[in-house]
Amino acid sequence: MWHCLCLLISTQLKNTTMATTKTPAQTDTVQESALNELFIDELKDIYWAEKHLAKALPKMAKAATSDKLRTAIENHLAETENHVTRLEAAFESINEKAVAVKCEAMAGLLKEGDEIVAETEKGSITRDAGIISAAQKIEHYEIASYGTLKTLASVLGYQEAAELLDSTLQEEKNADSLLTKIAESGINQSSKTEKK
Ligand SMILES: [Fe+2]
Ligand SMILES: [Fe+2]
Repeated sequence: MWHCLCLLISTQLKNTTMATTKTPAQTDTVQESALNELFIDELKDIYWAEKHLAKALPKMAKAATSDKLRTAIENHLAETENHVTRLEAAFESINEKAVAVKCEAMAGLLKEGDEIVAETEKGSITRDAGIISAAQKIEHYEIASYGTLKTLASVLGYQEAAELLDSTLQEEKNADSLLTKIAESGINQSSKTEKK
């Protein structure tokens, strides 16, 4: 997917170069500056998302029924706090101030998580199935965001930022796989037989 994004960006740069009266060097500068702006905006968005996720995860862990799920969420909370720190390092590596701008997508995903907890019975396996569903939607959003950010950082020549973003991307993927394993190891099966 990230390879496609790279191809798209380089094709766009080439097409714009051919269609304009600006010199190729001028066009590249304009395009890179727009891309740079997009990169920084996306960085601010995920910075807000991670900070708010770090606040929401303890509540989600507390609501979980199974020890396995609670431990997985608690472990990912520690990783999430580190994701915030890594983003601050990424901002610093490109000489930008770390600023959080509200991420509407994460705000919506967290609201959905709260609703699932409110609508399911405390101590039920069904609640765990719902928490896994909400948590995986969050992880998928993070995976998409970090994948794009890592590609943009590489295209813009921000090697240090690209490496920091890739480290977080791998942890998001691992968190997602672990949630799938927990769901497959019985929570979704048990919730089928649970009384409503
Ligand atoms: Fe994260
Ligand atoms: Fe995550």
